[in-house]
Amino acid sequence: MLVRVKLYRNHESLFKEFDVSLEPNQTVLDILYTLKENYDPTLSFRSMCRAGICGTCGVKVNAKPVLACKTKVRELEDPITIEPLDNLPIIKDLVVDHSALIERLKKLRIWYEPLGNNLQIFKTNSMVEKSFECIACGLCDASCPVFLTNQGFGGPMSFLRIYKLTQDPRNSKKEESLLRIKNAYIQLCTHCKNCSMVCPLGLMPESIIRFEEAELIKKGLISQSLTNSFDFF
Ligand code: FES
Repeated sequence: MLVRVKLYRNHESLFKEFDVSLEPNQTVLDILYTLKENYDPTLSFRSMCRAGICGTCGVKVNAKPVLACKTKVRELEDPITIEPLDNLPIIKDLVVDHSALIERLKKLRIWYEPLGNNLQIFKTNSMVEKSFECIACGLCDASCPVFLTNQGFGGPMSFLRIYKLTQDPRNSKKEESLLRIKNAYIQLCTHCKNCSMVCPLGLMPESIIRFEEAELIKKGLISQSLTNSFDFF
């Protein structure tokens, strides 16, 4: 099949158009490699595993943040518009700077601080289990409207990843983790659900944010009136 591709090139601040011959089962990442190999070797984009595991190939395709290696051409409307992710500075073409994502993870100290004794068993529910699976691709943060007005917001990726630390009895700093969530302005979340709609693993960060807010309200750390909800759905 022949598809028209509109590709963002940042040094020219414009979209370049190409007609590319592809198989329906090929992916957006295949488009990018085809363009780089056959049309323009200066094109820059990121990829590593090509299997939806490393989380590095995030781009915006037809206005939606996706993993390029997991998005099949046959699922997309023609023309296919490929742009860099929003909410992160562009380094070149489709390569964005992930430093802000990493800084947010560091600011919320998203790692275990173990107990003195060695607790081996942790029985948990499926939401907590699944939050362990986040690949830190940052698509959720790239879709979040709160960053347009507040760069201090913790963001759905960090709130998802810290959730396990607030639940796991093997973490000696459960209460501190909750306080960090509060200090990262969780109550600014608008519950638009963009993050849950774009998560390639279906981890539902917005639902996790609701759980965390409920826990903060229960502990008197935030008040009900501080939480936003547009309840679109
Ligand atoms: Fe690793 Fe796409 S290249 S997730």
